[in-house]
Amino acid sequence: MEVVILQDPGMQARLAADAIEQLIARRPQAVLGLATGSSPLGVYDELAARHASGQLSLRQAQAFLLDEYVGLPPGHPCAYRTVIEVELVRRVDLDPAAVRGPQGGREDLVAAGRDYEQAIRAAGGVDLQLLGIGTDGHLAFNEPGSSLTSRTRVKTLTARTRQDNSRFFPPGEAVPRHVLTQGLGTIGEARHLVLLATGESKAEAVAAAVEGPLSARCPASVLQLHPHATVLLDEAAASRLGLADYYRECFDGKPPWQRL
Ligand code: GLP
Repeated sequence: MEVVILQDPGMQARLAADAIEQLIARRPQAVLGLATGSSPLGVYDELAARHASGQLSLRQAQAFLLDEYVGLPPGHPCAYRTVIEVELVRRVDLDPAAVRGPQGGREDLVAAGRDYEQAIRAAGGVDLQLLGIGTDGHLAFNEPGSSLTSRTRVKTLTARTRQDNSRFFPPGEAVPRHVLTQGLGTIGEARHLVLLATGESKAEAVAAAVEGPLSARCPASVLQLHPHATVLLDEAAASRLGLADYYRECFDGKPPWQRL
């Protein structure tokens, strides 16, 4: 795992966008794993700017979302499918039909999970997966206690996650209790994981994920099993890491030919 601690606030987004741009240059038909929440928004701004300047085309790419709320009507402004349309798809040349998410509106959610796994496999798997982290250590919507080998399925959100995410919902509208989320085993099959976290509220979860024991108590600790995981942090999110100086030394002395 590579942990990168950055002082410049825009730098995380630029590094993640660089990784995506380099991937697309190698493989224009790459499969991207998209995350929602506030953490990846800077990356989407960066991709939109690079597209507008003619530097980047996602025309041949495909994308899969990590998760979706159960029961929100199609087009609901807080449905992750809508969020990703607004934050990324409409601002670049990604084909909307090549962007898929778990179908949280289906009656048979077990089949929806199975079909989603099948769709990811049929696309050849995810090349680069963007990730945020919940304050309780969740990855996608895999809450504490999630099996480290889980696949796409229904999960129940913790009260803390519903509280954290209520800021995205109109006043008075409850955050759904249930979600359909890629499992930790599903996420772990992406070829490159890029997790972004900023702010003091994430420091405890980041420390548990990066330096704590591998445990379902902190689902994001599953990153420790991955052969190519990059964790992009600001100083506040990194503030509880015991090995922060070492991570800085590694990044500062990184050979120029070595990519993220
Ligand atoms: C949500 C999403 C996660 C995201 C997390 C953190 O619950 N399902 O994928 O990583 O929240 O969100 P934020 O980046 O807004 O802090």
